[in-house]
Amino acid sequence: MKIAVIIPTYNERENIRSLLDRLLAVTKPLAHHQCTFIVVDDTSPDGTAQVVKAYRKTHPNTVLISGKKEGLGKALLRGMTYAIDDLGADAIAQIDADLSHDPTAFGKFVSALDNGSDFVIGSRYITGGSIPSNWGLHRKIYSVLGNAVVRYGLGFSSVHDWTGGYRLYRASYAKRLREQMNKYRGYVFQIAFLYKSILLGADVAEIPIHFSDRQFGHSKIAPSEYIRDVLTFVFRQRVKRAIYGPFLKFCVVGSIGFAINTIILEVLVTLGMHPAWGSAVGAECAIVSNFLLNNNWTFGTKKIAGIRLIRKFFQFNVTSLGAIFLQAGTVLVGTHLFGIQQYRWFYVPGVGFGLLWNYAMYSRVIWRQKR
Ligand code: GDD
Ligand code: MN
Repeated sequence: MKIAVIIPTYNERENIRSLLDRLLAVTKPLAHHQCTFIVVDDTSPDGTAQVVKAYRKTHPNTVLISGKKEGLGKALLRGMTYAIDDLGADAIAQIDADLSHDPTAFGKFVSALDNGSDFVIGSRYITGGSIPSNWGLHRKIYSVLGNAVVRYGLGFSSVHDWTGGYRLYRASYAKRLREQMNKYRGYVFQIAFLYKSILLGADVAEIPIHFSDRQFGHSKIAPSEYIRDVLTFVFRQRVKRAIYGPFLKFCVVGSIGFAINTIILEVLVTLGMHPAWGSAVGAECAIVSNFLLNNNWTFGTKKIAGIRLIRKFFQFNVTSLGAIFLQAGTVLVGTHLFGIQQYRWFYVPGVGFGLLWNYAMYSRVIWRQKR
């Protein structure tokens, strides 16, 4: 496998040689993989590029890409583009240049990819991983809290470290996402790229890493800009998912079910059936339609098939009873307090509670993601 390792640098003169040496030592024994190291430097004033140019003379598998400073995200994207277009890489890695990421862990990343994972991330927040113990309390809280906001905000809590820059992933994700990644110029790029890869179905593996403070140079992160970018990203994605996600489809399916229920009731009554029976038959037809449409469309990515379909259909009927109880209960409480004539005022919120109940049951119980 051809692996391209992207190393973004801005003023890393004192770190880059030592990082390259260590990475080379770690990757040499990987018999089935060829690694190329792409240093993406933004014309660092400290002369990082000169160090890399000198290094290249004795290490031809090192590449230098120079550009102007437009942010970490832009630098990573330039590295990805080179890895895809010029190297034809199968997998792409990235690592900070300041030795905060221990290169000796890289072998584990490669093994995870060899074992079938698509996106391997170094994780500070799982057992065996850590952030520097010498960090002050506020900095630790800031780091842990920031990650938690992203983790729970985006709603994929099974992934623990969203912001880190030590990764290895299949090049197909970079190919499919590179156009959309253009708008993430700063550090938020890391979060956005991981998130979009997960939406494409990437199987994520986490490798515990110890993050250590840099010894030379200083951090380039601009905290206020970073916080703003992260919060904006998380908020936008949540809204987008709410609008285009399963909830809208669920409502469309529900409306179709409602129409089926009504039509069948009217037809059966015309044919002479008692409305109570007609409405029961109609309701069950709507339930069948809802189940099939939700299974094939709303929750199509988690589609149930085979013999499980029967058990799940039964479960679907049982959970629907919950919605009926909620709706009837709301009307009962309302009419008890305000009189029987007021039932319409409670019927509408009752339907709303029933909808929410159904949606929660469908997404969390019936079509629960098996991970
Ligand atoms: N080419 C380029 N252009 N490189 C950059 C730029 C830039 O604008 N900004 C930062 N870098 C490089 C740095 O030289 C370093 O190799 C790496 O990107 C990480 O930058 P640091 O400045 O060392 O970041 P940090 O240690 O504060 O941030 C760490 O935590 C972030 C949040 O968890 C890193 O692990 C980041 O990757 C992570 O996103
Ligand atoms: Mn750093």
